[in-house]
Amino acid sequence: MNTQMNIAIDGPAGAGKSTVAKLLAEKLEFVYIDTGAMYRALTWKAIKENVDVNDEKVLHQLLKECDIALVNESGHSLVKLNGQDVTEEIRNASVTNNVSYVAKHPLIRKEMVSKQQLLAANGGTVMDGRDIGTAVLPEANVKIFLTASVEERAKRRHEENISKGMSSDLVKLKEDIAKRDQIDSERDVAPLKQAEDAIVLDSTSMSIEEVVENIYGVIVERDGTV
Ligand code: DC
Repeated sequence: MNTQMNIAIDGPAGAGKSTVAKLLAEKLEFVYIDTGAMYRALTWKAIKENVDVNDEKVLHQLLKECDIALVNESGHSLVKLNGQDVTEEIRNASVTNNVSYVAKHPLIRKEMVSKQQLLAANGGTVMDGRDIGTAVLPEANVKIFLTASVEERAKRRHEENISKGMSSDLVKLKEDIAKRDQIDSERDVAPLKQAEDAIVLDSTSMSIEEVVENIYGVIVERDGTV
């Protein structure tokens, strides 16, 4: 296996990107990079500091003061902000409902994209997000656009919440996911859309294992040609 490959996985919220990307990275012994977590970390900080998520300038200043690190400690992927472990906090509802507004700003995206490109400079990564194949790594060796119906994505999130003992409202989840899809797809800079050379995988009726095997097959096939 060419260990310099970069694998880009894009798609809408809740399509299973992070689970698939993590498993794939383990299988390939590549580094998993969760770019959504970077936007979430900044959003968490903004909420904590009472910064308006629509104020691009102040957010940009705040980002300059943030050291966002994706680290692996004893097999666990952690997100650290200025050394503080915020892995759990960045998944809360308040961050989830505000992150699309933060991710809309061109100045923020420019900064994040540079950081992400640096992380992938030596290859050997599986990176997931919304604009990896189109903007962050247009030269990625394999590009996957992973999608699923809104109903299925909401159902999966609902079951995940329940299994974690959290309260969950399926109808509200569906509305929130649809809203986030809309903001992510309609923004001016690097909107969520599939790269022309991406392979589209609809995971609506596929298991996680099937998706991973499918992508792994594409990588092995592509590996012979790079
Ligand atoms: O994948 P996620 O749900 O953790 O992403 C959180 C938000 O960040 C999502 O609403 C879209 C945005 N995002 C983005 O704009 N570009 C990326 N590369 C990753 C995430």
